[in-house]
Amino acid sequence: MSSSFQAPRGTYDILPATAATVLAVREALAAPLRRAGYGYIETPVFEDVKLFSRGVGESTDIVSKEMFTLTRRSDEDLALRPEGTASVLRATLEANLHRIGNLPVKLWYSGSQYRYEKPQKGRYRQFWQVGAEAIGAEDPALDAELVILAHDAYRSLGLRDFRILLNSLGDKTCRPVYRAALQEFLGGLDLDEETVRRAAINPLRVLDDKRPEVAKQLVGAPRLRDYLCEDCKAYHERVRELLTAAGVGFEDDDKLVRGLDYYTRTTFEFVHDGLGAQSAVGGGGRYDGLSEMIGGPALPSVGWALGVDRTVLALEAEGIELPGPAGTDVFAVPLGDEARRVLFGAVTELRREGLSADIVYGPKGLKAAMKAADRSGARYAVVAGERDLAENLVQLKDLTSGDQTPVALDALVTTLKEKLK
Ligand code: HAM
Repeated sequence: MSSSFQAPRGTYDILPATAATVLAVREALAAPLRRAGYGYIETPVFEDVKLFSRGVGESTDIVSKEMFTLTRRSDEDLALRPEGTASVLRATLEANLHRIGNLPVKLWYSGSQYRYEKPQKGRYRQFWQVGAEAIGAEDPALDAELVILAHDAYRSLGLRDFRILLNSLGDKTCRPVYRAALQEFLGGLDLDEETVRRAAINPLRVLDDKRPEVAKQLVGAPRLRDYLCEDCKAYHERVRELLTAAGVGFEDDDKLVRGLDYYTRTTFEFVHDGLGAQSAVGGGGRYDGLSEMIGGPALPSVGWALGVDRTVLALEAEGIELPGPAGTDVFAVPLGDEARRVLFGAVTELRREGLSADIVYGPKGLKAAMKAADRSGARYAVVAGERDLAENLVQLKDLTSGDQTPVALDALVTTLKEKLK
């Protein structure tokens, strides 16, 4: 009988059968960051709700519809983090990391994020990201570095069917001019009430509207690329050149606006073509104004977050199986109380010597115990009964060939270490 409880809607359990893949994905996404000088950071899973409303943006879906807020008795409201960038920047400012060391402060993180979304395949209410933030430097090489690191991370997993979409959202000089032009254009369209409201608050997000009745009216909308100032144009061109020189292919996509308000200049998304609707496996960009938005000094920064859940789905879609962890080496099958005492000691010693060893637990007969040994995937079973122990012996059974040989108890550890080398 199963329990009367289930994992909450939009969440799932990572069970041992898939855990190896999940852990390997997190490791593969992080490995290139470590090699590029990013230091690991962990921040709380909840923060002051205002950090996200100010940082991510009041008008975004993430803040206006999807935040898990926690009500407490005191006046400070908390929310489960919907993303990592605002928290990492908050922690950097709080610990003065930007004053103590070199700029940029390069940080990476790995953890769960929470968004109250309508669950579907690839879209969950609790999901995992590996993220990277380079804080306090304005240099196209940094934007390019991050895109290259994500590209190399996906490649190291064997993924092939992903594309990189690249755009520039301009800066505080040129974006307002474009915004006004776009608003004027949108004002002449036939849009529903909510979209009209969105056009007033964040007109660029309307460009992202995939509904056919909206998308068809957007043909002929003013294009941001025609409004970029000379500085933004030169910056973007440099990022493009560096990516090309590194052999990283990308597609220019001037409809790419992303769902968070803090972006300036470079934005990018990694999309996988085998995932259906939720195709973005990762995304990021430059956020030069975020530090000031949360009360810090000017700290131009750039970063990304890659979705672990969707990367696992992308591996499945491409039929890629990652090598699993090494299984149990040795499984002990004691017959009788004295044998249990002796073999439990032997198993402890084997583990201390670095082998992976397990033992049958609970009252089990020989047949059930041997079945447990087989199921464990162990290479060897160590079987011992009273008669063996009287002679200071155990029986070593090769579970692949079925061969069984007696081994002196005090030679068991060295024999197994030798055989499993
Ligand atoms: P984001 O695009 O919102 O960016 O999320 C990054 C990635 O997290 C997505 O591409 C996707 O793979 C994954 N993801 C997002 N929502 C879900 C969900 N509900 N279920 C499963 N996976 C999901 C950010 O979070 C920014 N903080 C990235 C960033 C860092 N920008 C600058 N620095």
